[in-house]
Amino acid sequence: MGVKITQTPGKIAHRAFAPLSRWISQRAFRWRRRHREYLSRQWLFDTIAGFVAGGKVEGSYLEFGCAWGSSLIDMNDAMRPYREHDKTNFFIFDSFEGLPAPAGLDAGEHVRYEAGQFACDLDLDQCNVRRGGVDLARVQCIKGWYDKTLTPQLKQELPIEKAAIVLIDCDLYESTVPVLDFITDYIQTGTVLIFDDWYSYKGRTDLGEALAFTQWRAKHPNIQATEYHKAGRTMISFIMQVEAA
Ligand SMILES: C[S@@+](CC[C@H](N)C(=O)[O-])C[C@H]1O[C@@H](n2cnc3c(N)ncnc32)[C@H](O)[C@@H]1O
Repeated sequence: MGVKITQTPGKIAHRAFAPLSRWISQRAFRWRRRHREYLSRQWLFDTIAGFVAGGKVEGSYLEFGCAWGSSLIDMNDAMRPYREHDKTNFFIFDSFEGLPAPAGLDAGEHVRYEAGQFACDLDLDQCNVRRGGVDLARVQCIKGWYDKTLTPQLKQELPIEKAAIVLIDCDLYESTVPVLDFITDYIQTGTVLIFDDWYSYKGRTDLGEALAFTQWRAKHPNIQATEYHKAGRTMISFIMQVEAA
């Protein structure tokens, strides 16, 4: 006598939906693989937003290298769950003409960076930023080359007291030097500095953002940096401490 196999409704449904479930999980897997760099950056932004909110580090968000606005939108999303978000002002600094021609120490050192790369229309940036849910009334955009715009005069004009978070995403050593000089007075104990391109030069610390940061720290012995989260292929962050001079 043969064995009678009884099919429960649960088993039948499971079989019927198996191809669909396989299709969905394959898609999800592929999406995750394609976006893991992005997800990793969002994880870093979420952690840092939580850190400054939890530690009551008050101040503005400063971003050097904004282009189409994707990091600004993502950081705004990361900060949104916290009450401090409503009090945060966002300052973005960019030529919107892309990178300057790599010169000096940057010349020939990176296979990828070239003049004009990441050039972007400011209107497009603002349009993306608005669509991305950022309140434009709280965003101030300073357009121009850093070596021309980041002046003591600009500091007097901008309503920045202290920075809570600074994102430096301008790729080059020559661009990072004026940025660090400019933000020195805005740094307080607890400010988080994020470098997007720390490892972009094959991990060399004698080039790019890493070199600019090392040299800047040597000039300011009263400012200490505690290494914090890293993300993706090239990002790193530091929590800053400032001793009274
Ligand atoms: C990689 S993109 C920024 C990408 C952006 N953070 C994002 O997530 O979409 C680098 C930006 O830095 C800007 N930049 C680099 N060096 C600069 C300089 N010396 N002065 C002004 N802007 C500069 C470029 O215009 C470019 O938009």
